Amino acid sequence: MSLPRTCPHDVVTTESEYVRNIDALLLSTYTSAREPSLLELVRAARGAFPTVVSERLAALHMRWSTRPSDQGIEDPSSPELHALDFEWPFSTDTIARLLDWIGYRSVNLIGLPSVMLQLDPEADACLIERNPLVQARNHWLASRKNFRLGDILTLDLSSIPRRRVVAFDSPWYFGETVLWLLRAVELVEAGGEIGFSLYGESTRPTAPLEREEILTIASRIGDVELCEAELEYVTPRYEACALEAAGLPPLRRWRRGDFVRVTVGAKRARPLQLPLIAQPVPREPWITYRVGRQVVKLRRPNGRRLRDEAARVPFAPIEALGGWAYPSVSLRDELRGSIHLWTSRNQVAQVLDHDVVRQRLEALEKAAARGLSTKRWLSRYDWAGRQEEARAWRELLRVDLD
Ligand SMILES: C[S@@+](CC[C@H](N)C(=O)[O-])C[C@H]1O[C@@H](n2cnc3c(N)ncnc32)[C@H](O)[C@@H]1O
Repeated sequence: MSLPRTCPHDVVTTESEYVRNIDALLLSTYTSAREPSLLELVRAARGAFPTVVSERLAALHMRWSTRPSDQGIEDPSSPELHALDFEWPFSTDTIARLLDWIGYRSVNLIGLPSVMLQLDPEADACLIERNPLVQARNHWLASRKNFRLGDILTLDLSSIPRRRVVAFDSPWYFGETVLWLLRAVELVEAGGEIGFSLYGESTRPTAPLEREEILTIASRIGDVELCEAELEYVTPRYEACALEAAGLPPLRRWRRGDFVRVTVGAKRARPLQLPLIAQPVPREPWITYRVGRQVVKLRRPNGRRLRDEAARVPFAPIEALGGWAYPSVSLRDELRGSIHLWTSRNQVAQVLDHDVVRQRLEALEKAAARGLSTKRWLSRYDWAGRQEEARAWRELLRVDLD
């Protein structure tokens, strides 16, 4: 097994230990509940992706039930959320709990658009967020002056006042969590509080060590309180599509994060030294297109442009997948590097002719902005001699879901 680039240690939980821990969690749920549902079992597995859980259930010969109420796509975001933007929204219960915790205190939020949206408009608050589509989804957010668009790791924070509370929900990787925590220290008042989401022990084999390290760093900032599985997420559409592609039901709200609260010491709210081991997730060069409700990402060519003039369709399925549907959302997935085109319905492709794909996406985006649906554009465009390409776009974009 290859190690993720953000791994903090040479020694990691081995694959067999990882599996043993998940098995133990599943077995204890099995004995405590008569006929556990897949949703209960996945929730009990402390962050293991449902495909990993279902593999373990099969290996342990454990049967599970499914309830219709546990499945379905309940994420209404438009434009849709995208795996490449690391977007996992909280459920309304969790947002309400976070609002209670913040109370009437001033707050800097990092990567928490759903909390910002529900705050009192008069609250002394600022949202730092990298994805401009967040504003397209919520026009009210766009009009707020306390919205800072930018990457928390590189944004100049000097003009953002420190506030009593800082809350963040970073992508669930060691380097990102540590680096966001260090930025949070620069945004909190002495004696204030930092709250953040922490992934469970089974998120990946290295997660137990990563968590230990993160909590150690947090304890150098202030007094730490850990509330297990306190944060509940709505399954984003792209993740529901990934589950379906893996042959599983699109489980609703399976993902839980721990909530870490750090009461910052009166004198300690100053920057800590960056630990060298905390590497951010590499920022990949993707071009983003809004095609109606959908968000389609095209990887920028690395050096020479891909150009196969003989190709009847300018993109093709990734061979190992045997179709467009991608059953993963993980950075560690070995196919991730071969993806050039990725939709918010978790459909992916490799590109054979970059320029043609770019032209089509630009045309689709313009048509959608004029109010023409993708389906209609695909039927109106002059595809003379290129019917195969038109069919491939229809399948890739899953116009059936529009
Ligand atoms: C895991 S999601 C958290 C969403 C949160 N649970 C909510 O309901 O509002 C991470 C959020 O941080 C944003 N984000 C990701 N990387 C970022 C970065 N480097 N700087 C600022 N925002 C970032 C994403 O666009 C996304 O909105």
